[in-house]
Amino acid sequence: MKFNMNRILVGLVMAALMPLFGMMSGPGLAADANPVKERQKMMRAVGKAMKISVKMLRGELKYDANAVSGAMKTMNDVAGRFPDFFPKGSDMENAIMDFDQESDARPEIWAHMDDFKMKAAALKKASAVALKVVDDKAAFGAALNNVGAACKGCHEKYKAVRKD
Ligand code: HEC
Repeated sequence: MKFNMNRILVGLVMAALMPLFGMMSGPGLAADANPVKERQKMMRAVGKAMKISVKMLRGELKYDANAVSGAMKTMNDVAGRFPDFFPKGSDMENAIMDFDQESDARPEIWAHMDDFKMKAAALKKASAVALKVVDDKAAFGAALNNVGAACKGCHEKYKAVRKD
């Protein structure tokens, strides 16, 4: 990461203000939570859920309806809360939230927050549909394609490719 004194200073100021920020940010965010870390953690859980589902469909792991059901529930839960973890200034280019934290969130998110929320809602819906058909491997496979399309639909517009 580039050494950027301004960012470090702003980061320190924000760190000092963090307890206050936590109180103002409403439900779903712990008082001392760093929203960038939280949302990345949520996405990693979603990524893991996707990987397991794909492996089971490909036969690399034994297909287990309970496991893919858990995976779809994880995605459904994350999709419902994810947009709450994008307070203004928590992207790299306008990094008033930078606590030494890299983020792949593109500034377009804040310019099109309604659309971003719709993309999250699309994942919520696609994972709910897939959840209903976990007992039928073929149907689940088809439903997971739509889940994948929901990931891609958001990433191609709102997620940068990390440069380091
Ligand atoms: C509503 C938009 C949206 C949807 C839907 C979405 N993502 Fe993401 N995803 C993002 C954004 C934005 C980031 C970058 C977050 C950051 O770095 O601050 C990200 C980051 C990630 C990461 C990297 C996490 C890390 O370690 O930093 C993974 C893995 C990921 N997404 C997987 C998925 C998968 C798999 C799906 C579908 C099941 C999905 N995403 C659906 C917006 C989305």
